Amino acid sequence: MAELYIPEHVGIIMDGNGRWAKKRGLPRQVGHTYGAQTFRNITRYISKQGVKILTLYAFSTENWKRPAEEVGAIMKIFHQYLVDSLTDFRDDDIKVVFIGDRSAFSPNLIQLINETEEVAKNRKGMLLNIAMNYGGRDEILRAVKQICKDVQEHRSDIDSLTEKDIEKYLYTAHQPDPDLIIRTGGEHRLSNFLLYQAAYSEFYSVDTLWPDFKPKDFDRAIEEFNKRSRRFGGV
Ligand code: IPE
Ligand code: IPE
Ligand code: MG
Repeated sequence: MAELYIPEHVGIIMDGNGRWAKKRGLPRQVGHTYGAQTFRNITRYISKQGVKILTLYAFSTENWKRPAEEVGAIMKIFHQYLVDSLTDFRDDDIKVVFIGDRSAFSPNLIQLINETEEVAKNRKGMLLNIAMNYGGRDEILRAVKQICKDVQEHRSDIDSLTEKDIEKYLYTAHQPDPDLIIRTGGEHRLSNFLLYQAAYSEFYSVDTLWPDFKPKDFDRAIEEFNKRSRRFGGV
């Protein structure tokens, strides 16, 4: 078999934790605990495959609508996860960055997020964007506000604004767009993930629930990606 091309930037919508738990008669939060384990294992595996950037969707701006008990449990899992990941990702030289509006989190969690980024900032391995309290529309709104400010204060000029300029205002500034977006849990939608950046991403949906997602499922997505013909509007 010809060697497979490994996409530069992969995004994953990690969905299906709640259903995974429900199927086992367990509370939804147990699904999140197992999901966090998959997050660790898969991140390490993907970094070893040669992917340069991995963006994982962990919590959306809409996920606050969930019962307080579930949101609280997710925050606790994040906290534990971050404490563990400080050493975890060091060994793999993974550079961790958080995208989304972190100001909504508890001071404790914000501090941990900042620390995690700080200790990882000089690493040379895969770039891991963890999307937490991330929403594509919120990101675009934030960019628009910043652009308006820059125009008002004469740092930017309306008529010369380009698409490339807009990219600079996004959380993913200076990163290439995702080549492949994988969604577990079987739904066929973006749910507000990387709306601007996903314009020409290949979308791959798999029924496997996130806690069950294994390296071989990732390999399958890469095989499928290699069969796609990306035209970017050309012929
Ligand atoms: C994804 O799993 C994790 C988060 C959104 C935090 P879900 O919790 O959405 O699981 P399902 O989709 O209800 O099974
Ligand atoms: C998308 O999953 C968000 C994350 C995986 C973090 P949701 O479960 O929130 O999406 P919907 O509600 O099915 O669209
Ligand atoms: Mg879901």
